[in-house]
Amino acid sequence: MKSIIITGGAGFIGSHVVRLFVNKYPEYRIINVDKLTYAGNLANLKDIEDKPNYRFVKADICDFDTMYALMQEEHVTGIIHLAAESHVDRSIKDPFTFARTNVMGTLSLLQAAKLYWEAQPEKYEGKRFYHISTDEVYGALEMTHPEGITPPFSTQASSEHHEAYGKDFFVETTKYNPHSPYSASKASSDHFVRAFHDTYGMPTIVTNCSNNYGPYQFPEKLIPLFINNIRHRKPLPVYGKGENVRDWLYVEDHARAIDLIYHQGTIAETYNIGGFNEWKNIDIIKVVINTVDRLLGREEGEDMNLITYVTDRAGHDMRYAIDSRKLQAELGWEPSLQFEEGIEKTVRWYLDNQEWMDNITSGEYEKYYDDMYKNR
Ligand code: NAD
Ligand code: DAU
Repeated sequence: MKSIIITGGAGFIGSHVVRLFVNKYPEYRIINVDKLTYAGNLANLKDIEDKPNYRFVKADICDFDTMYALMQEEHVTGIIHLAAESHVDRSIKDPFTFARTNVMGTLSLLQAAKLYWEAQPEKYEGKRFYHISTDEVYGALEMTHPEGITPPFSTQASSEHHEAYGKDFFVETTKYNPHSPYSASKASSDHFVRAFHDTYGMPTIVTNCSNNYGPYQFPEKLIPLFINNIRHRKPLPVYGKGENVRDWLYVEDHARAIDLIYHQGTIAETYNIGGFNEWKNIDIIKVVINTVDRLLGREEGEDMNLITYVTDRAGHDMRYAIDSRKLQAELGWEPSLQFEEGIEKTVRWYLDNQEWMDNITSGEYEKYYDDMYKNR
């Protein structure tokens, strides 16, 4: 039987990964390890919390003794590591917390897995340490395309488009060049993971994904923050000129990629994950405004006046764009949703789940653990 620890499973992407694994693999044991920081919300997993193959453990990944004891207790065969401090703006204000969780926390998990697995008769046979990382480790790309075509490309580019765009994408061999304390901490954790493979032979895999969007994202990130602000007619703080480009992927497509790579990816490899879906911030913001307005029965574009240009983020990376052709060619993964469909689904979800949002903005969600788990 597979017994898998998923770290950060109460967060945005982690909750989608936990849900997918718990539902798809009833024969696996899935242990969600999450510290429940401000970003962790067990309400994200309400629908699966009573499943017999699921266990939630409130713990800090930096706590080596607890991680080691849990791996022994659960006979852990795999780790899918998502727990992290994930918000760039917070990392600018408080870099120490990012180094602690993202670097030391990853190292603590690696060392616990190493000691536990090396003590087993079969050692690393059948084991996996899968580390989820970000495209931000690669730094920033130029805005202007070699061919003179400028983003946004608005829909998933075809392979012909991609050939035409040339090298101006992040590939798996792009040199690391992180700029924010967040991306520097993620880069460092990626290096530790690879070092554990190269030094000890640990079966590791690293993936680097572009910006995710979809249900259950904490409303400090662009899309859920703006959907909520538009609904309540609050200002929309656009950093700088709104010209920065991000490459957006629907979160369930990321979760499907993680499932595929966990099972079929090659040990010691890196895979980039992205949907060839680049947008300038200001263009995506306009799409979000139009969609919220339409779904709330307002006139489309009525809320454009909420756009408020504010001081730029320090060290704001200009453009991210992921080349995910390796994953597509080697494992046959493809994004399932066109962006127009994904954003409609996402806006609809936040509008239909206003209680989820209100529980976060009021702080009520932080009591969920006490109510649900304390006496279990
Ligand atoms: P998130 O902030 O929504 O969730 C992070 C989760 O980790 C939370 O549940 C939090 O409680 C938990 N956590 C934080 N510190 C912890 C600790 N010390 N011990 C145990 N749990 C802890 O993040 P997300 O957006 O879901 O990102 C998940 C992972 O994916 C991160 O590693 C991030 O770097 C990576 N990633 C995110 C994106 C994106 O667009 N959101 C894109 C690429 C990669
Ligand atoms: O690229 C992957 C990364 O995507 C992940 O590794 C990070 O964990 C995730 O947070 C995300 O990072 P970004 O900084 O790109 O996401 P964020 O939602 O914070 O911002 C998206 C863009 O929108 C960015 O260019 C900054 C801008 N922005 C953001 C906020 C919150 C604004 O203009 N105004 C805002 O209020």
